[in-house]
Amino acid sequence: MCGIFAYCSFLCERDRKHVCEVLCNALARMEYRGYDSAGIGVDGDSPSDPFILFKEVGKVAALRKHVAGGVPTTPPGAAEITQQVDMSKVFLSQTSMAHTRWATHGVPSVANCHPHVSDPATEFSVVHNGIITNYKELKLVLQKRGYSFRTDTDTECVAILCKYVYDSQPNKRLSFQSLVKTVLKELEGSFAFVFKSVHFPDEIVAARRGSPLLIGVKTERKLKVDFVDVELPSEEGKLAPVPDVGAAGLLAVPGAADGPKLRRQQSRAFLSEDGMPQPIEFFVASDPAAIIEHTKKVLYLEDDDIAHIFEGELHIHRLRRDDGLSSVRAIETLEIELAEIMKGQYDHFMQKEIYEQPESVVNTMRGRVNFDTGSVTLGGLKAYLPVIRRGRRLLFVACGTSYHSCIAVRSVFEELTEIPVAVELASDFLDRRTPVFRDDVTIFVSQSGETADTILALRYCLERGALTLGVVNVVGSTLSRETHSGIHINAGPEIGVASTKAYTSQYIALIMMAVQLSQDSISKSPRRAEIIAGLHAIPSQIKTVLAMDKDIQLLAKDMIQSPSLLLMGRGLQYATCLEGALKIKELAYIHSEGILAGELKHGPLALIDEHIPIIFVMTKDHLYPKTSSALAQITARKGRPVIMASESDTNVPRSAQVIRIPETVDCLQGLLNIIPLQLLSYHLAVQKGYDVDFPRNLAKSVTTE
Ligand code: G6P
Repeated sequence: MCGIFAYCSFLCERDRKHVCEVLCNALARMEYRGYDSAGIGVDGDSPSDPFILFKEVGKVAALRKHVAGGVPTTPPGAAEITQQVDMSKVFLSQTSMAHTRWATHGVPSVANCHPHVSDPATEFSVVHNGIITNYKELKLVLQKRGYSFRTDTDTECVAILCKYVYDSQPNKRLSFQSLVKTVLKELEGSFAFVFKSVHFPDEIVAARRGSPLLIGVKTERKLKVDFVDVELPSEEGKLAPVPDVGAAGLLAVPGAADGPKLRRQQSRAFLSEDGMPQPIEFFVASDPAAIIEHTKKVLYLEDDDIAHIFEGELHIHRLRRDDGLSSVRAIETLEIELAEIMKGQYDHFMQKEIYEQPESVVNTMRGRVNFDTGSVTLGGLKAYLPVIRRGRRLLFVACGTSYHSCIAVRSVFEELTEIPVAVELASDFLDRRTPVFRDDVTIFVSQSGETADTILALRYCLERGALTLGVVNVVGSTLSRETHSGIHINAGPEIGVASTKAYTSQYIALIMMAVQLSQDSISKSPRRAEIIAGLHAIPSQIKTVLAMDKDIQLLAKDMIQSPSLLLMGRGLQYATCLEGALKIKELAYIHSEGILAGELKHGPLALIDEHIPIIFVMTKDHLYPKTSSALAQITARKGRPVIMASESDTNVPRSAQVIRIPETVDCLQGLLNIIPLQLLSYHLAVQKGYDVDFPRNLAKSVTTE
């Protein structure tokens, strides 16, 4: 939900203005993750000086203004700062951090904005994504020990806990990473953190559990090896109790009794040829978008990794020794281009993403659909095909738009695999503690791969021994790593909060999966051939639909005053109606509802009169006679729907406003039908003056329950 960033430069001269710019730019790149307030923290003039904070409610643009003004935000409880800081101050090495927030605990306010500090002297500061579920208990214990809290957030207790651990050691010899490790052991919930302290100048500690975090590395010289060794806890890491813990029984500080015997080893990746320290920059972020303009060399942290950056080196430690995880973390090269995540010629990311669909769907199919042989090969699923075919049920789990893509393909799976299919909203699936069995095949669909409910549902199914497959856009995301196997939809980065190109790519990825699963059935071969031929034509047909943009813009003008909008269709088009309605409500803030036309007589018909705006989807498929009869019921009640019809349909009432859609195979028709609705929601939002890419109250990636 929120975005984390940290910048560490070692032996590179950087002035404070530059550091602030790097931080604000990174926040701007991550704004789509959360955007109710933003803050940065940079070094003071000397190492022991308090951290300098700039915090602002609203978007990053507001924070930039504040920074340009030069007067920092006063840390809570400190004497008010009225002086400007010296932006030309040059640092040979520095560490700094930034955060963009989407409120979970406490309203958006300067006080609740990150970085959070332990005390007015900012001894420890923290930026945090996720939620600490036991923060109330921790807060109580710390308050009893005399520590003051000044915000409504769960994060503040983590900063104060750092100070408590620091204050509790008799000889102050704990390393920064050991101190953080002690703190992390007390925390429950999911998180990604970056820690900084005036006691450990030029050092940063970053850690994650259940929330993504990656580190970019930039050097002038080539790295010696493309991995970083994981340093496992050794004997000296054994915990000794802090003398003064009291009733809560909290906190055992490593080596607090006799001081730590640090096992220092140099990470092979950062050794210079001549053994001399080399200039290096590290960029820690929750999102590759924040790093890409600086370096493409990145390393993804695993859950329970603790990364310690100091003296130009990156060390990775483990919170526990327990797991069979790899003993190295690979430094990968990010394939994504910055240009890909910029708006280009478009006014909004969403508009760009809508227009990218003719290419993004090709990218989803590239190397997977062989149009010559009429076959599909999804490499990740190959080894699992027999298990999937033997499955007792295909269980799709997702949220939001991703859920709609599952609804859209449900009947094709039923038809091609003949396995019972269930489609579940992740939150409801978890609420019901739905029975799941070892012979279930569970499929988790998520653009980000970081949606908390979907991840929890995945873990729930893993515990029950089911095969788990991911259909994910973001490579390296939690879902893609924790599922047994899956498909990357390869739609490219999606920045607009409202999902568009990810929907069409998920839809196609799932269709490909259904086709591949049925490739052992001869009787299904004509149907497969028809679908594959349909897929071949889809990119150019999407282009044809996009060419109607001007007409849709006019339609938006007609509908802009509507307080409510109904979208009706049946069968395969129910998903189109649900997804269209979601787009309209999230972007245009108009109440809209996707209605299954088969349910018309069971309630919705009561809403029909000459005033209520309706979009009626009746492109041709085997349900066309039933859809036509539903339309007749609406027009008989003076309803005046805008009709989405096939190009060849001559039965549409003459008086009706019609959106003509090219024809494709029935199960692919939803790929085309959704495009005008994406455009409609976009134009409604633009015409109403709303923030298209950042609709109010919503976040791109909902990483908390
Ligand atoms: C949020 C976004 C939606 C998205 C949903 C699921 O609500 O605003 O656009 O569909 O999360 O996200 P996922 O990344 O799991 O597809």
